[in-house]
Amino acid sequence: MAEDELSEMIRRKMEKIKKKIAIMSGKGGVGKSTVAALLSIHLAKKGFTVGLFDADFLGPSIPKLFGMERKKPLSSIEGIEPVLSTKHAIRIMSIQFMTPDGIAVIWRGPMISKVLRDYLAYVSWGRLDYLIIDMPPGTGDVPITVMQEVNLDGVIMVATPHDLTASIVERAINMARTMNTDVLGIVENMSYYQCPECGRVARFGKGSDLLAKKYGLKIIAKIPLEEKLSTFCDSGLIEEYDKDFFENFIP
Ligand SMILES: Nc1ncnc2c1ncn2[C@@H]1O[C@H](COP(=O)(O)OP(=O)(O)OP(=O)(O)O)[C@@H](O)[C@H]1O
Ligand SMILES: [Mg+2]
Repeated sequence: MAEDELSEMIRRKMEKIKKKIAIMSGKGGVGKSTVAALLSIHLAKKGFTVGLFDADFLGPSIPKLFGMERKKPLSSIEGIEPVLSTKHAIRIMSIQFMTPDGIAVIWRGPMISKVLRDYLAYVSWGRLDYLIIDMPPGTGDVPITVMQEVNLDGVIMVATPHDLTASIVERAINMARTMNTDVLGIVENMSYYQCPECGRVARFGKGSDLLAKKYGLKIIAKIPLEEKLSTFCDSGLIEEYDKDFFENFIP
C-alpha cells in the first residue's frame, strides 16, 4: 500500500478519538508503562472510553500489567480488535498478543516504524474519549513516527527525582518541542519511599522539580516507590490497585 494511503487510513482512525496522549520519558525503566496503565485506569474510572496502545515493540509490558499475556485479539471487518481489560474494559493492543511467549521481535528501526504505522492504520479502536500510547524508552523511531502520524494532544513525561534521569528526560522534552508536540507535564515516579513501619519518608532528589521549573511544566503527579504497586504490577493485577495518583487530572 502506498505510504500516503496508509497515512490517510491512520488519519481516519485517529479522527474518531477525542484525545491522544503519549507517555514518554527518554529514559528506560522509570515507570512509563506503569504510569500509562494507571492513567488509563483513572480515566476509565471517571467514565471515559479508553484505549491503551503498547507501542513498545521490543519490550511490550502492558499485557503483563493487566494479566493478559495469553489473550489473542480477534479480527473483524473493521480491522484488528483490541482486547478488553477485565475490570474497566480498557481497549488494549500490544504486539505481545501476536508473538509467542519469550520470543523476541528482532527488527531494525525502519521495520518497527512500518509495523507501527500498520498498527495505527488497522487496529479498530472505535470511538474513544482517550487513546493512551505507551512509548518505548529513548527518542528514536517509535516516538518520531507516533509524533508524525498521530496528531497528539500532548505527551506526558515520566521522570524520577534523580538528576541523571532529569538530564535524559530533558532530551525527550526538547524532542517533543522540536516536533511541535505539546508537553502536558511531568509525572514523577518513584518519588519517595515511606517506611510502612516507622513512617519515615526518604526522598531521592529534586531532578524533576528543577526540570519542571526550567521548562515551565507542571508536575501532574508524584508516585511513591511502593511495594504494593510493584507486587500488583508483577502479578498482573494493576486494575485491582486502589490508589489513584491523578485525582482530578483530566488531560
Ligand atoms: N512507583 C513504583 N513503585 C514500585 N515499583 C514500581 C513503581 N513504578 C514502576 N515500578 C516497577 O518498576 C518496573 C519498571 O516499570 P515500567 O515497566 O513501568 O517502566 P518503563 O519505563 O515502562 O520501562 P521500559 O523503559 O522498559 O519500558 C516494573 O517492574 C514496575 O512494576
Ligand atoms: Mg515500558
